[in-house]
Amino acid sequence: MIVLGIESSCDDSAAAVLQDGVLAASVVSSQHAVHGPYGGVVPELASREHVRHVLAVIDGALAQAGVGLDDVDGIAVTRGPGLVGSLLVGLQVAKGIAFQRGLPFVGVNHLEGHLLAILLDRQVAFPYLGLLVSGGHTSLYLVEDVGRYRQLGRTRDDAAGEAFDKGAKMLGLGFPGGRVIDQRAQNGDRTAIRFPRASIKRGGYDFSFSGVKTSLRQHLLDGATHALDDVCASYQEAIIDMLVQPTLRAAEDLAATTIVVSGGVSANSRLRTAMTAAGTAAGFDVAFPRFAYCTDNAAMIGYAGRARLLRGERHDLTLNAAATLPIGVDV
Ligand code: KG4
Ligand code: ZN
Repeated sequence: MIVLGIESSCDDSAAAVLQDGVLAASVVSSQHAVHGPYGGVVPELASREHVRHVLAVIDGALAQAGVGLDDVDGIAVTRGPGLVGSLLVGLQVAKGIAFQRGLPFVGVNHLEGHLLAILLDRQVAFPYLGLLVSGGHTSLYLVEDVGRYRQLGRTRDDAAGEAFDKGAKMLGLGFPGGRVIDQRAQNGDRTAIRFPRASIKRGGYDFSFSGVKTSLRQHLLDGATHALDDVCASYQEAIIDMLVQPTLRAAEDLAATTIVVSGGVSANSRLRTAMTAAGTAAGFDVAFPRFAYCTDNAAMIGYAGRARLLRGERHDLTLNAAATLPIGVDV
């Protein structure tokens, strides 16, 4: 079975081809250069950019896989959550192809894609603990099966990626700032400044990142004299501590075997070493998708969609985009 996956939920237009469950092509066209000057994603510009690039990334993925639309057996597309104008571009194109070719078509939850991205590269037995850390989400799930996700915790305010991006903006490092902070932090002293760590004792495994962001602002207002690399390393370290601690606590409480970290922030080099070191020391297997499947991509959407198509799941062409879309048991 050949599945075409399409993703356009935020500021990346992406397409991928899966051939008998193996990834044959994955193409991503990023809009970072368009939104950078605004310090954040501008929804109206994002939709227009998707319109400009969506067909080219689909053609690119098909060409890379060496197949044509005639060979495709099913279409998987992100239906939410995300920016509704962006989502609609991918969804309408997917529906158009499905209608014209008479192909089965299924809408996929973007978060489900992130949680399953690890399975593109390696087998992990269910259930596993899934920490999803991106620009829009920071949540902890027990992934029981494809389609069965039990939410254990979530951020009470900002997502971890937002904390990176807003911190980078305050430091004049551009947008999106996660990767820049990560790079600068590699030359910095992470113990230079002790930023406060929020700990939500009564919230189960909830997270909070607005406090650390405010502390950084205060630190800068106070006329900080630390080197920029040290500020980046210390700020990043606080965010990472606040991700690692609740995740380890949940893994211990649930007697999980494997911790899987996914979403854009899982590309962070310090998160990868810190979570792996702490998790392994506590006896857990810690897994991260490869870099290309951490940030938004269509390979993960194709993977999740393929699993659903194989089960006989279909959406009809009245399917709409959803800016918010819960993920849980059989959504
Ligand atoms: O998953 P993603 O591509 O899009 C969303 O669904 O949000 O995640 C984007 C987020 C941005 O906030 C970006 O700054 C962050 O992932 N990010 C990073 C790194 N690479 C991307 N954050 C920290 N370190 C990185 N290396
Ligand atoms: Zn994402």
